[in-house]
Amino acid sequence: MNILLTGGAGFIGRWVMKKLLDDGHNVWILDDLSNGRVENIAEFQDRGGFRAFIKGTILDEQLLEELFNSKAFDICYHLGASINVQDSIDDPRTTFNNDTIGTFNIMEHCRKHSVKVVFMSTCMVYDQCTDEQGITEQHPIKPASPYAGSKIAAENMVLSYYYAYGLPTVVIRPFNTYGPYQKTGGEGGVVAIFIKNKLNGKDLNIYGTGTQTRDLLYVEDCARFVVEAGYSDKVNGETVNAGLGRDISINELAKLIVEDENRIHHIEHIHPQSEIQKLLCNSSKAKELLDWSPVVTLEEGIRRTEQWIASTNLI
Ligand SMILES: NC(=O)c1ccc[n+]([C@@H]2O[C@H](COP(=O)([O-])OP(=O)(O)OC[C@H]3O[C@@H](n4cnc5c(N)ncnc54)[C@H](O)[C@@H]3O)[C@@H](O)[C@H]2O)c1
Repeated sequence: MNILLTGGAGFIGRWVMKKLLDDGHNVWILDDLSNGRVENIAEFQDRGGFRAFIKGTILDEQLLEELFNSKAFDICYHLGASINVQDSIDDPRTTFNNDTIGTFNIMEHCRKHSVKVVFMSTCMVYDQCTDEQGITEQHPIKPASPYAGSKIAAENMVLSYYYAYGLPTVVIRPFNTYGPYQKTGGEGGVVAIFIKNKLNGKDLNIYGTGTQTRDLLYVEDCARFVVEAGYSDKVNGETVNAGLGRDISINELAKLIVEDENRIHHIEHIHPQSEIQKLLCNSSKAKELLDWSPVVTLEEGIRRTEQWIASTNLI
């Protein structure tokens, strides 16, 4: 198939790209490099299916028009977005423009050209989990940050194209994802930051009490889920979760990574009002519709991530 992958130079996009190439597709990446990097996809440049990397933004309607007119895309995997909760609080306009308006632009072109859309939403749209069954797709949502609010708005537009136009669309909500190629600086994910600090002999800082929990999904499991959602007609018009099905407090995660408790400190939370206290995924719908379940344990995923961070100069 001919596939447009937005955000393909980013962390998860890079792994989605790999899986799509492994599966034999032709892939065009559109990424403005606001948070992605060409190094993430450099190793794919010589592979037959890698058709082009286009540096550009989903806010550029002219560029989208030319792209959709000149290529007969079958699927658009739409991952391009502003992803940082704190950035969205400091500057909501940028996140709203990229995540909501940008998604609307993508939807319009996919509608005109009858292209299936896989929309990458996030677990951050949910209210906190209150039981051990985990969060199903019926769980209440709560726009606790402009990032979550922008994604919820975009989700609704994506599903409206299914109902109003019969366009095949699916909303997917992966839980917090980690693994090789995630940034290890302040912009990165908690696993990457903790491992980088451990390897550099630095202490680990936890925002708030550290009792908040996360369901951590290894990036190759995440990418397989994303890609499968594009292949299956069963998920059209649906919202589907994916996570490990195990949550861990940030305190326990820090101990698992650094072992020495003297190297763990608690500091004042920068956005306590937008914190979600417990996130635990129930992925039974993904299992039922896509026959998807995660295969990489948290311990194995951390091991692979640490090995990668130790071997690279990327930050
Ligand atoms: N990392 C996670 O834990 C997680 C979990 C669930 C969902 N998601 C979603 O998955 C997607 C990928 O996230 P990620 O963690 O790989 O982040 P990332 O920042 O590495 O990837 C996003 C990519 O989109 C690009 N981008 C941003 N604005 C753009 C624009 N206007 N036009 C074109 N490209 C643009 C960035 O340069 C970046 O390469 C996002 O939609 C995010 O909301 C992430």
